[in-house]
Amino acid sequence: MSKYVKGVAVAISCAAMPVLAAVNIVPLPNKIIEGEGALPAETAHNVKKVYDATVPGEGYRLKVDANGLEIAYSDAAGVFYAEQTLMQLVAPDGSVPYVEIEDAPQFKWRGVHWDDCRHFIGKEALMKCLDAMALNKLNILHWHLTEDQGWRIEIKKYPELTKKGSVRPASPKPVVLKTPGCKDYWESNNTPYGPYFYTQEEIKEIVAYAAARHITIVPEIELPGHALAAIAAYPELGCTGEQFEPWWRWGVSEHIFCGGNDAAIKFLEDVLDEVCELFPGPVVHIGGDEAPKAMWKKCPKCQKRIADLGLAGEEGLQGWMTRHFTQYLAAKGKRAIGWDEVLDGDPGKDTIIMSWRGPGGGIKAAARGNDVVMTPVNPCYLDNPQGLEDDPYEYINYGFIDTLELCYGFNPVAGIPEEQHSHILGGQGNNWTEYTWNASEYEWKIWPRMSAIAECLWTKPERKDWQDFKRRVATMRKRLIHLYHINAAPVE
Ligand code: ACM
Ligand code: ZN
Repeated sequence: MSKYVKGVAVAISCAAMPVLAAVNIVPLPNKIIEGEGALPAETAHNVKKVYDATVPGEGYRLKVDANGLEIAYSDAAGVFYAEQTLMQLVAPDGSVPYVEIEDAPQFKWRGVHWDDCRHFIGKEALMKCLDAMALNKLNILHWHLTEDQGWRIEIKKYPELTKKGSVRPASPKPVVLKTPGCKDYWESNNTPYGPYFYTQEEIKEIVAYAAARHITIVPEIELPGHALAAIAAYPELGCTGEQFEPWWRWGVSEHIFCGGNDAAIKFLEDVLDEVCELFPGPVVHIGGDEAPKAMWKKCPKCQKRIADLGLAGEEGLQGWMTRHFTQYLAAKGKRAIGWDEVLDGDPGKDTIIMSWRGPGGGIKAAARGNDVVMTPVNPCYLDNPQGLEDDPYEYINYGFIDTLELCYGFNPVAGIPEEQHSHILGGQGNNWTEYTWNASEYEWKIWPRMSAIAECLWTKPERKDWQDFKRRVATMRKRLIHLYHINAAPVE
């Protein structure tokens, strides 16, 4: 039996109020001068807000003294982040310590990745995550909505996507594989899973909830791979026309969208049309990772497209698709982002590269002039074990342990020459849900490690201090538990 009984983190801590140190903020503000004294609770809600064009975007100055409380800002996000800081400054008696803070983020992209495909985690948990993100000044939710194992977004023009594509015949039985470097092992539970998906009305509600917290949602429609659930709904989208069901097991299907079939390209354009209507943010993720080319090699349509356009083989065909959808989205005023595999097919300079197989893809992309989001598997994949002494939610161990301390060492510009730093938009933490069954497990995996990544993305590296962060993040964990009932893992 684990020392951390599932679900108990919330129950225990509800009995004890969090202890708030005077200045105990995550992410650490970039400049703090602590004063002597505190503003009493009676006057602490009189906040004066002053527009000041010299304050950087998303930044703020916050002054608390005997005269009261003043926020200087240049945009609405700055006011919001000043308020998030204030929430963390207020003492349990409602007084606010005298302080002067000058603050602004290091990076524009401070992201959390949310996978609803392998297991459907759902709206309530997602909204709690948005609350927790706001408190940690995280501003991008990258929402993984389509997969081999399930299609999770309603598309009005293609109703079979959610009718057939959101139900799989079974799932792998839960297994515990803790041996480092172990191989995956799957046995069917023979239990249908689904239908699980978000309606367009639910998506609008979530987008609005995020926007109210200055969080932009980046939806992901995977192409050309991770597409079996779509092909199950519309078999003509694949190379062979075979009828499939969404995959019951984990891993990567060889059946991907046919790159030579104009109808498949048109289908993806139509899907992106609806996606762009639903998500007002400026970026759409078009996947691009782990797209096996076995079917394309045998497919007359794919081979004809390669020959007609003089493309460099199957990688060239994927490159053509990346460029096509980057341009398609650009015509709608959006930027495309793809996983780092898209570099193998010469994506053009406008596609943002999301570097996941390590920092190498991002280093290469910045050197060739692409913008980059860094999310290297170590330490940014929070489905990796976190190294707790006795972790009830650790089922699988591929040999990587991403501790809180390792997450705190994340530096998105490591290895990038100074003159290319402007290409690094920021970074994000990811959780994939093959081994995450529900919301409380999700929360345990991402919090408080996501707070460590948040500080790496907000705070100047020279301000960071692991021991001090460890002290502050223990309080942040209590805030997450108390304010939002998040099942955050302990800080050991
Ligand atoms: C990925 O983890 N396949 C992007
Ligand atoms: Zn094909």
